[in-house]
This record gives sequence, structure tokens and C-alpha cells, in this order.
Amino acid sequence: MIRLLHHPPSPVQELHSPILAEKGIRLLVKRDDLLALSENGGFCGNKWRKMQYNLIEAQAQGKNRLLTFGGAFSNHIAAVAEAGQFFGFETIGVIRGEEPAIPSHTLQLAAARGMHLHYTSRSDFRQKNDPEWIANLLEKYGDSYVLPEGGTNELALDGCRSLVEEIRMQCAGALPDYYVMACGTGGTLAGVIAALNGQAKAIGFSALKGGFMHDAVAQLLSEYGAGSYNQWEIQDAYHFGGYAKTTPELFAFMDAFLREHGIPLDRVYTAKLFFGLFNLIEQGYFEPGSVVIAIHTGGLQGNS
Ligand SMILES: Cc1ncc(COP(=O)(O)O)c(C=O)c1O
Repeated sequence: MIRLLHHPPSPVQELHSPILAEKGIRLLVKRDDLLALSENGGFCGNKWRKMQYNLIEAQAQGKNRLLTFGGAFSNHIAAVAEAGQFFGFETIGVIRGEEPAIPSHTLQLAAARGMHLHYTSRSDFRQKNDPEWIANLLEKYGDSYVLPEGGTNELALDGCRSLVEEIRMQCAGALPDYYVMACGTGGTLAGVIAALNGQAKAIGFSALKGGFMHDAVAQLLSEYGAGSYNQWEIQDAYHFGGYAKTTPELFAFMDAFLREHGIPLDRVYTAKLFFGLFNLIEQGYFEPGSVVIAIHTGGLQGNS
């Protein structure tokens, strides 16, 4: 477990392109996709940040089983399965929806890593935060350390703070004015906002439609005791139809991005982030001379 806390910082890579030069923007990418247990594995990126203190806590509580929740394409499910296998926890994944005839790549990967998949109807799954429902699951599977869907809890926010600490160290010569990242539950953004302490602006690009991300992040911040920060915002216009929805335009963008910058993106989160970010840059959203750092939160296992 100790190894988790002593990973070297993930690299920061600068991007170059005519639009960045024209607008006078420095764009850096924090390559947390490279913070991984295995290539294209699930335990990488923000999953690493969000889970590290939780795994230590699970170990401290003497738990040898992790139980968590997610959908068929959940990076979090893949991450818990991989972390469990690597660090020696049994893992139970409570999966939204009936067992499909052909499980998604993510679920196959999780099962191959030893995760027991417990399928539930979509309506039952809505009880994922209900203590009584969880108690029934624990009765069935035995005492476990329970991680919420998406892995977002207080310890996860603590883990995401380390992103800001690393970036400040790595970019000491020109500290970023903006920290931008994709949002699912908003936990990563909330941890970053708390660590920034109002000293730079954080922007979250919602991967989900519905316009609820701002309230979700505000709620997380207030529960975390960091509700007074206001140097942040949510961009809601780049979800491409909703969670895990894609368009040919998004795939074309991912291909071009890989060709031009050598960085693979995932279609659920980071492709939408970078598409939206370049769109804002083209619109002149950032003042010339700004330093922007985009956090590559991983998720590449979902591309298979
Ligand atoms: C690759 C990737 N990026 C971003 C996110 C969003 O993180 P958060 O749920 O902390 O907002 C997730 C998962 O939720 C993810 O898997």
C-alpha cells in the first residue's frame, strides 16, 4: 500500500498549435493518464487520486473486501477491480441493470481481475446510497469497505488535492491561472477547488447532461467545509448528448488530437473536455498570456 503514496508525479506536457499561438495561451496537460498500475488498465488518472486514501483507510479498518457501485462502462468499477487484484482485496461490483448477454469490455475486464459482479435492476440501483439496502448487500457478501459510485467521498477529495500540490511544484516558474478537467460526480473538481484555495480558477466540463453539476459540486464543497470558494465554474455545453454519448465529430477530434499531440483521449470524459476547451480558446474565453492546465484523468480502458 505504501507504494501508492510514493508514486512519482505524473508528467506535465505542453501543447503547441497555431490556435494557442494566435490566442497567446500556454496550454499544459497534467498526464495523470500515465499514473497507472498497468497500460490501459483501470486504476489510473483520477481513480488513483480518489482511491489511494480510501485503500489505506480500508486496510487500517482491517477490511479485506471492497464493495462498490457502477454502470457497465464505469471506469470506477474497472479501477476498483484492478486495485483489488493488485493490493489484495476481494472486490464486489454492484452493477446497474440486468446481466447482459455480452458484458461490456469494462465488465469483462473487472471480472477477469476477480471482481464479483452483482447485477441489479435500474430501479433497485437507485438505492445505492440507502444504508438499509447497503446493509443487505453486506449481509450477503460479508463485511466490506464501501466505496460510493464514482468513488467520490471525503477521502477522495483529499486525494485529488495532491494534483494541485504536484502541479504547483512542477510549474513553479509559471503557475497556471486555470485548472480545467472533466466532471462526472464532480469529486475531482471539488478536491482541486479546495486545494486551490481561490488562488486560480477551476473549470469543470460536465460529461453528463441535465445541468446539475454546479449544484453537485457546490454540495460536495459545502460537505467538505470548502463551500466558500467561488473561483470556479461548470461548462455544461460539451456533453455531446449525455453520459457516454458520442458523435462522429467527437471521434474525429480524438483522432486529430492523437495525431497532433500524441495524447490518447477517452470518449466519455477527456475528449469532451479537450473539445470544449479548444472551443473556449477559439472564442477568446481566456485572456492572452493565460496559463491553462488541463488534467488528463485517464479512462482509456473504456475505449476498447
Ligand atoms: C476518466 C475520467 N475522467 C473524469 C471523471 C470524472 O471524475 P469525477 O467523478 O470526480 O467528477 C471520471 C469518473 O468519474 C473518469 O473516469
